[in-house]
Amino acid sequence: MGLVYPLPSQRSDAGGKEIRLENCLGKTVLVVGGGGREHAIVDALSRSPQVEKIYCAPGNAGIGAQAFNVPLKDTDVEGLKAFALENGVDLTVVGPEAALAAGIVDAFRTAGLRIFGHTRAATAIESSKEFAKRLMEKHGIPTAAYRSFSDFDEALSYVLSRPFPAVLKYDGLAAGKGVVIAQDAAEARAALADMLLDHSFGEGRVVVEDFLTGPEFSFMCFLDGEHVYAMPLAQDHKRAFDGDKGPNTGGMGAYTGLPFITPEDREFAYREIMCKAASAMVAEGLPLSGVLYGGLMKTPQGIKVIEFNARFGDPETEVVLPLLQSDIYDLFEGVAAGTPVAEPVWADDVTLGVVLASKGYPGHYEKGYDITGLELVDAKVYHMGTAGRDGKVFTSGGRVLMVVSGGSDLADARRKVYEEIGKIGCDNLFYRNDIAHIAFE
Ligand code: AMP
Ligand code: GLY
Repeated sequence: MGLVYPLPSQRSDAGGKEIRLENCLGKTVLVVGGGGREHAIVDALSRSPQVEKIYCAPGNAGIGAQAFNVPLKDTDVEGLKAFALENGVDLTVVGPEAALAAGIVDAFRTAGLRIFGHTRAATAIESSKEFAKRLMEKHGIPTAAYRSFSDFDEALSYVLSRPFPAVLKYDGLAAGKGVVIAQDAAEARAALADMLLDHSFGEGRVVVEDFLTGPEFSFMCFLDGEHVYAMPLAQDHKRAFDGDKGPNTGGMGAYTGLPFITPEDREFAYREIMCKAASAMVAEGLPLSGVLYGGLMKTPQGIKVIEFNARFGDPETEVVLPLLQSDIYDLFEGVAAGTPVAEPVWADDVTLGVVLASKGYPGHYEKGYDITGLELVDAKVYHMGTAGRDGKVFTSGGRVLMVVSGGSDLADARRKVYEEIGKIGCDNLFYRNDIAHIAFE
């Protein structure tokens, strides 16, 4: 501790100029984004004795209790740059991929500002499925066999020559709807027509890959240009409802301490996937400096890559960063400056977090429901989609809150989290009751 939290009366959604404080001695950090991931980043930064002031753009109601919210969109690169220059920001940390893809890192660096995140070009490892697949093929990183197509007939005949289900991935930004697991020829034909004839998402190509089976997990690493530092492994729960049923979401809960991963699995994933990907990007002239996220699967044929992301995962970050014992400012600053950083130290505990989402999510949902009881909760509560007004907190997104607790084992952490969730009142939230179920089967 060492951070002087802004008093509630100083917290403001009113904009950078009005909330500028002069004569601060410690470091000033700007976090870009406004979800649970960014709340966890702000929370970790608030534990750094070097950090005196944290801004978050746009932030949310919970973040506003630990940082100054700045009403700028995460993709408003020019606005964010002007804000950082005017407010003496020592370091900017980027959460969302959209900001990286908008070129925030390139723009800040050109302006002489220190920023943690990848360049727009390096973000291709996430934004282009074909780029990522070619990289893996060329550098021998294990992943599902694939081909890519722009022609509908060629794509369909390839799909029909392979066993079902077939995995069809639109190669570009598709608002989370770009992956279709087609069970038969009719479904594959419809999805390919949508992507390659009707161009529902745009003019991109389609990657067709083999269907893999096995538990998925997330491996995030800090990359400083020289080292690849592993974070604790986490598992997300993508489906909306218990028993992994219902539609795919942004993630309904996560935990660390994965029971199905052996030390050998982890070592393999670290060396053969994460380190190889980091070296491969250097060889391609696109060095990564920031977080590399491997979405991996433990298949009967070994661990393989499902996707790479060029950023912290959400909700994985909310269960991983509470375990960090090192000063996160040193890590962020060293990576951003391109200087080697010391190996981060992690607590041995496990963590588990449950997402409370608006009823109807990931489909249509209403906003503006009153949330009560937050002050009673004896666990970390990361805000994912909340807004504050007159001292009250309201729902303002699909995923609203994530309650996270640590424990000596998963049963302990899980019991604590569900107990604490019971203290939160809101008429329009639902959550899964079976986070980390694989550990209890
Ligand atoms: P992606 O956007 O590439 O992460 O894909 C979204 C989800 O689709 C993944 O989290 C997996 O559950 C599933 N998926 C993607 N690729 C495959 C694959 N080759 N085999 C089986 N499932 C997959
Ligand atoms: N939890 C998955 C992601 O952040 O992409």
